[in-house]
Amino acid sequence: MSTPHDVNHQQDRDRENAATANSASVATTLSLHALATTPPPAMMPVRLKVNGKERSLHLDTRTTLLDALREHLHLTGTKKGCDHGQCGACTVIVDGRRINACLTLAVMQQNVEVTTIEGLGTPDNLHPLQAAFIKHDGYQCGYCTPGQICSSVAVLKEIADGIPSHVSLDLLAQPTRHADEIRERMSGNICRCGAYANILAAIDEYAEGQTS
Ligand code: FES
Ligand code: FES
Repeated sequence: MSTPHDVNHQQDRDRENAATANSASVATTLSLHALATTPPPAMMPVRLKVNGKERSLHLDTRTTLLDALREHLHLTGTKKGCDHGQCGACTVIVDGRRINACLTLAVMQQNVEVTTIEGLGTPDNLHPLQAAFIKHDGYQCGYCTPGQICSSVAVLKEIADGIPSHVSLDLLAQPTRHADEIRERMSGNICRCGAYANILAAIDEYAEGQTS
């Protein structure tokens, strides 16, 4: 036989079940409404030359260059660290200059030449800077490494092209490959493992080899 206590409990459960069913139906109505009122994404053709190959894509205009490379071209060597321009893991070389691929839309890069880590070297045919990173232990987890290497290649070109940095003392003089110059120019590439000293040694050895 039910006691008054049991009856109260049953009434509480009935009220909870009714509230749950009610909020589920409100959520369904809201998401159907959102589906009905959200316009479809704007799509656009995008042409890029990536690692020497012409690539044609049809993309949502909100697609970043990073997502176009990773999700659409399956070039996953370029890493997504922060997706906010703060870590440098997504660094690629566009028309000879390094950029953060997470901070630019693919549609803004029509007909450019993009070089990713896959375009610099392969496991069977390493870029000399990749070999130097291995030799000097320039990484631990390796997640930032593709961005570090793409950035290093472009940094050395910036110095060779006479582009001054924040620590260049004379803005009109040819910058030198001083450790402070390299550190400053590589400061946008964060390595959470702290392999900075070894990264610097790897860049230095590679640059020496280029000039000797
Ligand atoms: Fe682009 Fe971090 S993923 S800067
Ligand atoms: Fe680990 Fe750079 S090697 S974050």
